[in-house]
Amino acid sequence: MIKQAIIPLAGLGTRLLPLTSVFAKELLPINGKPGIEYILDECVQAGIKEIIFIISDKKKMIKNYFYNDRFYKRIIKKKKDQRIIQEYNKIKKFRKMIKFVYQNKPLGTGDAVLKTKRYIKDNFFLMLLPDDLIINKNCSKSMINVHKKYKSSVIAGMNVKKKDVSRWGIFRLSKKINKNNYLIKDVIEKPSMKYAPSNKAVIGRYILPKKIFVRLSKLKPGKGGEIHITDAIQSLINQNEPFIAHNFFGKYLDCGSMNGYIKSNLEISKI
Ligand code: UTP
Repeated sequence: MIKQAIIPLAGLGTRLLPLTSVFAKELLPINGKPGIEYILDECVQAGIKEIIFIISDKKKMIKNYFYNDRFYKRIIKKKKDQRIIQEYNKIKKFRKMIKFVYQNKPLGTGDAVLKTKRYIKDNFFLMLLPDDLIINKNCSKSMINVHKKYKSSVIAGMNVKKKDVSRWGIFRLSKKINKNNYLIKDVIEKPSMKYAPSNKAVIGRYILPKKIFVRLSKLKPGKGGEIHITDAIQSLINQNEPFIAHNFFGKYLDCGSMNGYIKSNLEISKI
């Protein structure tokens, strides 16, 4: 069973400047609710019991969001507002599940994952990238079901426009397992259109094996000088570790870019 999830939150969020000059993008509201709470809801509904947040000193505001007890208690005592009481209880519930680790230099997603090494107990764990919201269907839950069946690593995959491949990790399929699940042959971080092996992109949901930490600790910086999780995945695939690409059913929303963030608000307000 997959019981632990990790969420990298230590990036700079430059695509959402100027908002991110003072604010953690994961706390920005999407239709009135912080983006990170959609991700936490997805985890809880998928049966996750422990969540590891990778934050940085610059993003301590995320931790403060979950630890503002004195303020809540004072306001609740004064106002006895049911909505505030409910929100506070929800935050306390989430808090029980969350551990914080630090990555003070944003050296890449792979480096962020490496920071969780000593907290991962089981052979597999879930990773969610909070910029990627998937609505209407719980993507983590369906990936956990795929993992249960095939006992292997799983990543969420989606077709993207050919002209956009250089924004994503792009993978090539090797073998069809069934209608929505395929074995991955290789994966490459942000390829140019010319070198992209396909238009199939890795979306921010991964079930990763604990053995990825060994690969990560040996990785050299890749594209853009960062340590990428996709490079560690490729290194495992080279050692015959099976990775399944799962075509998920939900609707993908990109909250990491300004246009995407605005669109996500509109989409979620329609639900
Ligand atoms: P991105 O590279 O997409 O986002 O990382 P970013 O770096 O925050 O934002 P931009 O590109 O400057 O706008 C994907 C996820 O990985 C986390 C980010 O916080 C984001 O949730 N991340 C990225 C880390 O935790 N550490 C890193 O070193 C890099």
